[in-house]
Amino acid sequence: MTPVFAPKSTTSYPLYLVTPDTLEAVAGTLPLHAQNWVQANGFKGNAGETLVLQSETGAIAGAVVGLGAPETAARRRFTAASAANSLPAGDWELTGDLSDELATETALGWLLQMYRFDRYATQPQAQARLVAPANVDAPRIEAIAAGEFLTRDLINTPAADMGPQQLEQAARNLAKDHNAEIAVTTGADLLDANFPLIHSVGRASPNAPRLIDLHWGKTGPTLTLVGKGVCFDTGGLNLKPGASMGLMKKDMGGAATVLGLAHMIMALNLPLQLRVLIPAVENNVDGNAFRPGDILTSRKGLSVEINNTDAEGRLVLADALALGAEENPDLMVSMATLTGAARVAVGPDLAPYYTDNDSDAAALETAAKQAADPVWRMPFHTPYESMIEPGIADLDNAPKGGFAGSITAALFLRRFTSDTNYMHFDIYGWNPSAAPARPKGGVGMGARALLDALPDMLKL
Ligand code: BES
Ligand code: MN
Ligand code: ZN
Repeated sequence: MTPVFAPKSTTSYPLYLVTPDTLEAVAGTLPLHAQNWVQANGFKGNAGETLVLQSETGAIAGAVVGLGAPETAARRRFTAASAANSLPAGDWELTGDLSDELATETALGWLLQMYRFDRYATQPQAQARLVAPANVDAPRIEAIAAGEFLTRDLINTPAADMGPQQLEQAARNLAKDHNAEIAVTTGADLLDANFPLIHSVGRASPNAPRLIDLHWGKTGPTLTLVGKGVCFDTGGLNLKPGASMGLMKKDMGGAATVLGLAHMIMALNLPLQLRVLIPAVENNVDGNAFRPGDILTSRKGLSVEINNTDAEGRLVLADALALGAEENPDLMVSMATLTGAARVAVGPDLAPYYTDNDSDAAALETAAKQAADPVWRMPFHTPYESMIEPGIADLDNAPKGGFAGSITAALFLRRFTSDTNYMHFDIYGWNPSAAPARPKGGVGMGARALLDALPDMLKL
């Protein structure tokens, strides 16, 4: 489905956004029976409260939606948008003088709230649509929502229908939509082209491993996005127990998020040169699978001792990051569902990220607040470098003990980025329970914050 606003029409229902403080004034503009109805229902204007209004003959006449007091509003973004789900199908229009910020957040949140994973649904559902408020940049909001929908669809699609080949197809479709160039290296060709780690991780799957390389834009600063595309993570020979494997269709969440962000960048025609690199593999079990104890030599030449085949994400990313760093872009960003440790540290809402660049971090923090896309900075703590050095090879892919598991994974990746200005996100890609504008299931994290920060980080 495509997230779009309803066309402006005369048949839309008015939607009144109220706080406990403005309730009286707003209710005063309604016909007497509606005022009584608001009062009789005990509507107070608390966050998320929604009440449909009716005409004297019982037709839908609009709705009031509570924003809550300013203190609670700060704890909960997209409050007004969350009403989208509890309103009857039809077209709705915001009333009153809303600030640009509230109008934009409500409009974006509304589209994000409308998301349904309907690929396997046999019955279409009618939805409440929003007429774009006059004071928002509607095409921009639609482009952002479309990118996020792409991310969610890719994550939610089960691995049987979203293997490396299908992920390649999704990237090809995106490239076609935006006139981007795309090249893909597959199977044994990965060895000839010197991507040994991608091949090693992916070779046990009948759905062959590949490296997807997309280019767009002819002028401006250079940005390379690298996304972990592990279409399913069984753990490999270090097989995951069932409970840990259950959700591993989402292990291409980094790839899905960078593709969603790429859509936003290209649809909004940002003045930059974009490259997207996705190592797409399935970490599977087979007689030819890579093993614990194997020592592999990476594209960059660093040798890696495999101490756990379940620490596969950093391996496939290492070769992709090495390739990305070869042309020293102005900024390289990786996104990956890389460690369980990141989830233990910050839970499912926050996108933990790493960078050595303080001004990029400041730009990202500001943008994250504005975009209601929260991030949290983690340290590239150099003293822990010794934890990823096993002795018999240059690097260890799975340090024993698991101390600082997200940090050691990030340090591992940084080894492959040479001198490139580098930022890494260790995301979860999944919403365990529904929240405003974030339905349960696959979700992009950090992409909207990055989109808003790019002008600052790349001096666009
Ligand atoms: N894809 C997982 C990480 C993951 C697990 C992310 C659960 C989100 C939720 C990754 O490939 C993995 O298995 N990492 C291991 C690394 C360990 C073996 C060093 C982990 O985090 O346990
Ligand atoms: Mn794994
Ligand atoms: Zn994984």
